[in-house]
Amino acid sequence: MPKKSRGVTSQRVSQITPSGIRRFFDLVASMEGVISLGVGEPDFATPWHIREAAIYSLEKGYTMYTSNLGMPELRRELSRHLKYKYGLDYDPATELLITIGVSEGLDLANRAILDPGDEVIMADPGYVSYSSCVVLAGGSPVMVPTYEKNNFELNADDIEKRITDKTKAILIGYPANPTGAVMSRDKLEKIAEVARRHKLTVISDEIYSSLVYGVEHTCAASLPRMKESTILLGGFSKAYAMTGWRIGYAAASKEIIGAMFKIHQYTIMCAPTMGQVAAIEALKSGDNSVNEMVADYNRRRLFMVKGLKKIGLPCFEPRGAFYAFPSIKSTGLSSEEFAEKLIREEKVAVVPGSAFGECGEGYIRCCYATSLADIEEALARMGRFVKRCKG
Ligand SMILES: Cc1ncc(COP(=O)(O)O)c(C=O)c1O
Repeated sequence: MPKKSRGVTSQRVSQITPSGIRRFFDLVASMEGVISLGVGEPDFATPWHIREAAIYSLEKGYTMYTSNLGMPELRRELSRHLKYKYGLDYDPATELLITIGVSEGLDLANRAILDPGDEVIMADPGYVSYSSCVVLAGGSPVMVPTYEKNNFELNADDIEKRITDKTKAILIGYPANPTGAVMSRDKLEKIAEVARRHKLTVISDEIYSSLVYGVEHTCAASLPRMKESTILLGGFSKAYAMTGWRIGYAAASKEIIGAMFKIHQYTIMCAPTMGQVAAIEALKSGDNSVNEMVADYNRRRLFMVKGLKKIGLPCFEPRGAFYAFPSIKSTGLSSEEFAEKLIREEKVAVVPGSAFGECGEGYIRCCYATSLADIEEALARMGRFVKRCKG
């Protein structure tokens, strides 16, 4: 009997689509003179003292694998850092895992807790990896629409309505990419209460925790009785301008870290050694550099939001991360059309809101982690473009 024809690649992979951000990144790379507000990464190089620590470690020949969990010194520093920042006690030997960025942490967290068909509740719009990581782990993402009028915050009642006997986790990410929303403590407490009542795990991506402007970030694990059921994911990419070093971490119960570790050990082995050395230095003495960068981002944030409003694009006030998320509804274009025409006609790259989910339609994401001069020029070009659209 002839064998039934099967696709070369798995059905699971065919369920996910390539990131809508990368497509624009590739377009930018193929054109000259483009100002990119597209990719979400700091325009600063990693602070010198951090780079120097890594260079010195290379000179000394620290080029081997580290412990699979991550260097003990880094885990100790991280434990101290989380205690100091949030009053949380994580055992460096069993409750912390050094990962290849929050990207790996997201993958491990989902794979460690999900069985086929398990549901994970999350916000729409949301960071592009969230739903794909759930699908790749065999789960089903369940989207909760969030709106500008509600500060793009997830709401406990909306979450509760979507809980079924298959729900395993709630995935939150605040300060948020793409909206720049920061969740208030009050709202987070209500979500925590729902999670506790339904015995759900909270996966909390807090990669932008240090990048907040005039408001406080609340760590989900620091809320009463939440440490045991929260997988806290953090990283060095954004706060310390260390995207290329690929270092992040997961903090959770011994049981969950143990499960994540099993996958990490077989698929990754350990995070890059020199990146881990750099991360130790960042935790020991990176605070001043972070504060300086945050002050700079804040100046650019104010400039960007004011400028967007001035050219006729109403903009929700972002209080965290480094993104503005203006509405482009008044132009009559879809967010894809807007982004595509803008880059071709005015050479400014932004990301269409639809790349982040259905509720992102009608918006574009503009990253302001770029120089004030570039933001000013980008706004002038966008102003011309918007005028023509409304024309
Ligand atoms: C919300 C969010 N989570 C995670 C990541 C991935 O970060 P890392 O560089 O630590 O893998 C990003 C990167 O843009 C992000 O915006």
